[in-house]
Amino acid sequence: MERIKLHDKCFKVSIPYSKIEESIKTVAEQLNRDYKDVENPLFLSVLNGSFMFTADLMKSVNFNCEISFIKLSSYSGVESTGEIKQIIGINKPLKGRSVVIIEDIVDTGATIEELYGLLEKEGVKDIRICTLLLKPDAYKKDIDINYVALRIPNDFIVGFGLDYNELGRQYKDIYVLDNSGS
Ligand code: IMP
Ligand code: MG
Repeated sequence: MERIKLHDKCFKVSIPYSKIEESIKTVAEQLNRDYKDVENPLFLSVLNGSFMFTADLMKSVNFNCEISFIKLSSYSGVESTGEIKQIIGINKPLKGRSVVIIEDIVDTGATIEELYGLLEKEGVKDIRICTLLLKPDAYKKDIDINYVALRIPNDFIVGFGLDYNELGRQYKDIYVLDNSGS
């Protein structure tokens, strides 16, 4: 489908699946090279957005590894410190493990910074980040984004796991907001 309508907005194809697939294979090759001698690394896929990327990526990973899915829950604390984030879905000790975070997109980097801090507190030995998409012009943090499949401009996109108010995740192409009218 060339164009889709989600809620009140129209989107047009921006990155076709063929290009996404190719860039994911390149990232998998980098991981295969870097992790071939690492003992039992753990991939932590951040739901919901990363489900499709994770499935495609893992099909091309050829070393022994574990995969878990996590979610970040945020809730307002009773104190004035505001929002507190928690990892849900981790049911095993992470101490001493080599962990690869799998993200759909790194935008400002606030989410990844939060998660990184939480994993450090768990005593993880080595943390690397693998993301399908990076918006380099928006990224404001110092943490290294180790593996990036695609770099994109500062536009709002959907598809291949990413949503606009929970719609659009199932499309295999990536779409960008189409302002040329509906
Ligand atoms: P950050 O914390 O600013 O890096 O934003 C990361 C999160 O914002 C992602 O995990 C997405 O859920 C969401 N996000 C950022 N950019 C987009 C986009 O273009 N489309 C859909 N979701 C996005
Ligand atoms: Mg997300």
